[in-house]
Amino acid sequence: MGNRNRAAVVVLGDIGRSPRMQYHALSLARQAFLEVDIVAYGGSEPHICVLEHQSIHIHKMPQWPAIPPSFPKILRPLLLIFKPIVQFLVLLWYLLVKIPAPDAFIVQNPPSVPTLVVVKWASWLRHSAFIVDWHNFGYTLLALSLGRSSRFVAIYHWIEKHYGKMAHGSLCVTRAMQHELAQNWGINATVLYDQPPEFFRPSSLEEKHNLFCRINNSLTRPYGSRDCISNGLAEHEKIDQTITPFTTQVGADIFLKQNRPALIVSSTSWTPDEDFGILLEAALMYDRRVAALLKESDSTGDELVWDEIRGGKQFSYPRLLFIITGKGPEKEKYEQKIKKLSLKRVAFRTMWLSAEDYPLLLGSADLGVCLHTSSSGLDLPMKVVDMFGCGLPVCAVSYSCIKELVEVEKNGLLFSSSSELADELMMLFKGFPESCDTLKSMRRSLMERISSTRWSTEWEECAKPLIHKVISDNS
Ligand SMILES: *[C@@H]1O[C@H](CO)[C@@H](O)[C@H](O)[C@H]1NC(C)=O
Ligand SMILES: *[C@@H]1O[C@H](CO)[C@@H](O)[C@H](O)[C@H]1NC(C)=O
Repeated sequence: MGNRNRAAVVVLGDIGRSPRMQYHALSLARQAFLEVDIVAYGGSEPHICVLEHQSIHIHKMPQWPAIPPSFPKILRPLLLIFKPIVQFLVLLWYLLVKIPAPDAFIVQNPPSVPTLVVVKWASWLRHSAFIVDWHNFGYTLLALSLGRSSRFVAIYHWIEKHYGKMAHGSLCVTRAMQHELAQNWGINATVLYDQPPEFFRPSSLEEKHNLFCRINNSLTRPYGSRDCISNGLAEHEKIDQTITPFTTQVGADIFLKQNRPALIVSSTSWTPDEDFGILLEAALMYDRRVAALLKESDSTGDELVWDEIRGGKQFSYPRLLFIITGKGPEKEKYEQKIKKLSLKRVAFRTMWLSAEDYPLLLGSADLGVCLHTSSSGLDLPMKVVDMFGCGLPVCAVSYSCIKELVEVEKNGLLFSSSSELADELMMLFKGFPESCDTLKSMRRSLMERISSTRWSTEWEECAKPLIHKVISDNS
């Protein structure tokens, strides 16, 4: 591309949790044949393809230490100033000294401060092109914690806009964001939709079984005492079989169990902008509503109820197992809440899976739930993109631009309240696993499009020409 044959991918965050920047690095290496330096923080492992690629070099910066809760509140505003200054100096050192000069810096925004400033300076000093990939707006994220009227938010906004405009080229994640950037920021950005890379795909039966065996302990260990998954193994399941809550292996043959629970996956960063409470309430409603239906059908006692579920056609609503993946600040609070609910037909597990197991889990599930609401209203949840890549239909929280991704009843459903989500769960899982038509038709239509919607194709068409042009204009 350029004469140095190098690109630098910059994230002021955990590279393991910035999949889009990892995919950029992979595409720059595989599709543009560049040497790629990633400058970021450590934390979680990046994908194995990134780690093992010969041309990708990861430079981990030292982390800003966590602030202890005992830190005096009155000094916190000082930290807001001091932290970016330290980050600024460390990042500048890495971009100017630690890595060879690249043809282009490609930087993730947000965080915008001090990232955009440093990358602008570094690109100027090293005669490199400066490309911003707009995932969202930094100032709207800051406003979540400080409030829209905060002076810090105003300063942040100014820096983000001022330095954002200086970029030689810009990419963004939705048409809505492209429009906002053009109208109010004077920035001409190219839309590069998130698309799943090739490792997000449906899992084979064998992959499912192996995954369930690997995580069997977490699957069968309940919060609190017992729940409908931990005591779900019936007596006739013999010792010579390998059993998980979903599958059985006898000899070389693997079966999906007829009475398996429906597997619902949600991944969350456990932050206040994702209201996990909606999901808990919906689960509780599902539990109560199915119980009420069973009561009408004259079942008494739990054992009878279970038989009814297994045998009876009329009221076959499955047990639901929700697996919630992700790390974050509110996780423990919600784990305590889950413990206190007395659910009979619904169970929850929280897990942190490796970058290799996570796609397998999505590829093994029956439904995905997405609680993402955007701070700017202009970005899309990448986890839904990944779920679609695995052929997994999704129920997602509705907001302004989500329809650029979720097509109602074609690949998913939208909801605005917990009772709407509960309605959708009842509708989708009635008759599970055989006769749940909506779920099946959504899965079919996702499968039909799986091969045509891939990150590498989208990158080749949208990002590569832009990066190419920016680099040649600059050199
Ligand atoms: C915006 O970028 C596109 C693609 O690079 C280009 O064709 C177009 O002329 C640009 N528009 C403006 C107003 O700069
Ligand atoms: C999974 O856990 C259950 C309950 O502890 C156990 O009965 C079963 O044999 C385990 N299966 C595997 C494959 O480890």
